Amino acid sequence: MLLAPSILSADFARLEEHAQEAVHAGADWLHIDVMDGHFVPNLTFGPLAVVALLPLKKRTQVILDTHLMIEEPQRYLKQFADAGSDIISVHVEACTDVGQTLRDIQALGCKSGITLNPDTPLSEIEPWLGEVDVAMIMSVFPGFSGQSFIPESAHRIGELRRMINQSGSRALLEVDGGIKSTNVRTIVDHGADVIVAGSAIFGGIVSERILQFRNQVAPVAQQDRATAS
Ligand code: DX5
Ligand code: ZN
Repeated sequence: MLLAPSILSADFARLEEHAQEAVHAGADWLHIDVMDGHFVPNLTFGPLAVVALLPLKKRTQVILDTHLMIEEPQRYLKQFADAGSDIISVHVEACTDVGQTLRDIQALGCKSGITLNPDTPLSEIEPWLGEVDVAMIMSVFPGFSGQSFIPESAHRIGELRRMINQSGSRALLEVDGGIKSTNVRTIVDHGADVIVAGSAIFGGIVSERILQFRNQVAPVAQQDRATAS
């Protein structure tokens, strides 16, 4: 399981330090939630949030995973690539030309991701599974952190897992929204590779929260590591 804490729930007065706590505690990616007030009813930040994390990326090689919840994301891809994003994910509902948008992301030197809202059929992203590096299930309606995991998402994760495996796609399956240490095990068991978590990680002592996530998914491995050290 790769863990991608969402900085949307971090303390912005000390963003780099808070994000660093997550990376030092074993976060694999940092998830950056960009909202435009149109595609979703909330506004967050632009490419400067990515720029603010560049020194941390340089020190630690953490992957910057940018989730664009904006209309016509193709207009802003270059800005987010230039800012230092490693992965750029777009919503299938927000693109005027999905194929071109994904090709543009790759041409800018980034990994590409496709995602979709909880009420959008998986068939909408199926044609792109062979091209993307990441396919992401939204397990809440995008717009806000701290929402509850939509239970039907578990079935969609399993469906997408089957689609990815059957198509021979190399895409990682990422899941975003409402994930806590209490439900992460089920989500991974349904086939998730990458777990996004905002409030459940930054809402407490980050290193403890990350350990709780890891313990739920690989308790035996954790135990072995503890005994070995
Ligand atoms: C939802 C965002 C998520 C969200 C995750 O619009 O895309 O990344 O911030 O936050 P939690 O884990 O609190 O649901
Ligand atoms: Zn997100």
